[in-house]
Amino acid sequence: MLGAIKRELFEGIRAAVADAGYGRDVEPSTVELEDFDDEEKGEFSSAVSFAIAADAGANPMAVAADIADRHRESGLPDGIDSVTVENGHINYHLDVDRMALRTLSTIDSEGAAYGTRERADPDRIVADVSSPNIAKPLHVGHLRNTILSDALMNVLEARGHDVTRDNHLGDWGTQFGNLLHEYVEFGDEAAFEDDPIAHLLELYQQFEQRDSMLEDVEAFDAVTDEFDEAVTTERQYHVDDGKEWFARLERGDEQAVERWERFREASVERFERVYAELGVDFDLWLGESFYAREGWNDLVVEKALDEDVAMRGPDGSVFIPIYPDEYGDAGDPETASVDPSLDRARELLDEAGSVEDADFDAFYIVKSDGSTVYGTRDLATIEYRVGELDVDQSVYVVASEQNRYFQRLFVAARKMGYDEVHLEHIDYGMISLPEGSMSTRGGQIVTVREVLDAARERARDIVEEKGRDVDGDEVDAIARKIALATVKYGMVASNRGKDITFDIDEAVSLEGDTGPYVQYATTRAYSILDAAETVPAVDAIDPETFNDTDHNLLHQLGRYPLVLEQCEERYDAAPLARYLLDLAHVFNSFYHKNRVLDAEDAAEERLALTDATARVFENGLGLLGIDTLAEM
Ligand code: ARG
Repeated sequence: MLGAIKRELFEGIRAAVADAGYGRDVEPSTVELEDFDDEEKGEFSSAVSFAIAADAGANPMAVAADIADRHRESGLPDGIDSVTVENGHINYHLDVDRMALRTLSTIDSEGAAYGTRERADPDRIVADVSSPNIAKPLHVGHLRNTILSDALMNVLEARGHDVTRDNHLGDWGTQFGNLLHEYVEFGDEAAFEDDPIAHLLELYQQFEQRDSMLEDVEAFDAVTDEFDEAVTTERQYHVDDGKEWFARLERGDEQAVERWERFREASVERFERVYAELGVDFDLWLGESFYAREGWNDLVVEKALDEDVAMRGPDGSVFIPIYPDEYGDAGDPETASVDPSLDRARELLDEAGSVEDADFDAFYIVKSDGSTVYGTRDLATIEYRVGELDVDQSVYVVASEQNRYFQRLFVAARKMGYDEVHLEHIDYGMISLPEGSMSTRGGQIVTVREVLDAARERARDIVEEKGRDVDGDEVDAIARKIALATVKYGMVASNRGKDITFDIDEAVSLEGDTGPYVQYATTRAYSILDAAETVPAVDAIDPETFNDTDHNLLHQLGRYPLVLEQCEERYDAAPLARYLLDLAHVFNSFYHKNRVLDAEDAAEERLALTDATARVFENGLGLLGIDTLAEM
């Protein structure tokens, strides 16, 4: 309902600006929701006067006062008490008593739907989520991806969109040719059966090691030419064998496909166990292989060549040239502007003499040996999503390491003529663990398994420390939910672009900015509600009894829908995570400063508030994939 007020305010400001004849359109984003404790600024504030004043060479204070007067005269929205002007800002103040009742009754009537939105015309969104490469274990980077994307997709759904989660597995490419080759030479059935991913990882690393070893020897100035030649030949064999296996795979060779399928199935089975434990699900598992095996790669390559968007290099490779001035906002169909013609590229190529030296980037879709690459499969994915799934948005939750790649992909996609679809790279930063906090086997990666086990162990300690009178199974069940809250909250609490250090010992604590802290506040609300006989009806409530802490809490509850709106705008779950933490703080001070059950005149009112708070915790934590607990 604060959302509705915000929209009404915006319309009012816009009308006042038009009325005053300032001749400038007002952006909705110029009306902002302020922190609830900044009384001077009011709950909403607009700085539109500055832009107008700058245009007109006028004084922003005078402009603000003028707009405020006009707005006041034409009538402020229901729920807004007054408008003031402060340092050129136009500030709007809520009528807190009216708001209090509106908030409570909205939460009461909407229940689990509070904060959600229905749309007559939702966007059809297909999202790449999780998307690990097969034949390798899931590591903390995948953990951040999987949790962030699950929460974000939940939010987008709650905001009324039609979301399809696609686990776009990395299950195709030269590396699997190498792996097939290595497996044929050195694979061990028993080791594979025992722990397929560990065995495949070992083979993969072995292949890489041998390659770099041969590279080193090759670089070494050898004594004899024969030796040099032998090494080069050996390395060539080695690399060619891998390529040959990938070529066989792309041709659909039975032996290659059969083995590859075993690798894929075993990997998917292991991944699924982890996903089940995290409580996340996908609608699709198409993977890169789908586009290769179902002809989509061939189709986009043909299309790119037919439509003269891609050109052939001297070595037979195929690429789409991208000029330096084309990296605009290619993700946004409204502003994307590219030049698909090849004339410029041909000239530049003539001038420079080689693709490498030419003043454009080459987005390769076929290598000189005829095989496809990562980018081919991504263009094929867009073709498929636009043509078959009829998407409005194709979005990618992928680490920021791939920023540059996605910029290029999006430009290439525009050149291919995918004009309507919104493309968004939802990037996130690196995640690391504090030195020494966890065994990094081989010093390389920390697996999801290790993080989950460690979190579970710490959570158990916490439950046991509290010395509750619960049996072992129950301790386990509670510990598991706390552990998940620890990990999930920790993964989304920072803005997604930021690199984070994830410290389990901090994240599992019941104090501090943690998931369990929010869980604990919810448990507290539950136990108050449990102790009360019934929760009073909202219309029996007297808003006059509310004091400042009550109002703070109400205010915070009313902000929830706006926070979801913000998450949607930013494609991030961090605002929600931080909001829930704020709510937990405000609720805790409400609880500490007030009597609730035995409040003299306000027991009913405070119970209703507690009930509404529990509801918002449930809704919000639910979107983050975090369970609430009756007991902790
Ligand atoms: N499998 C890739 C990786 O592990 C991520 C895939 C992301 N999605 C995409 N459409 N490129 O790096």
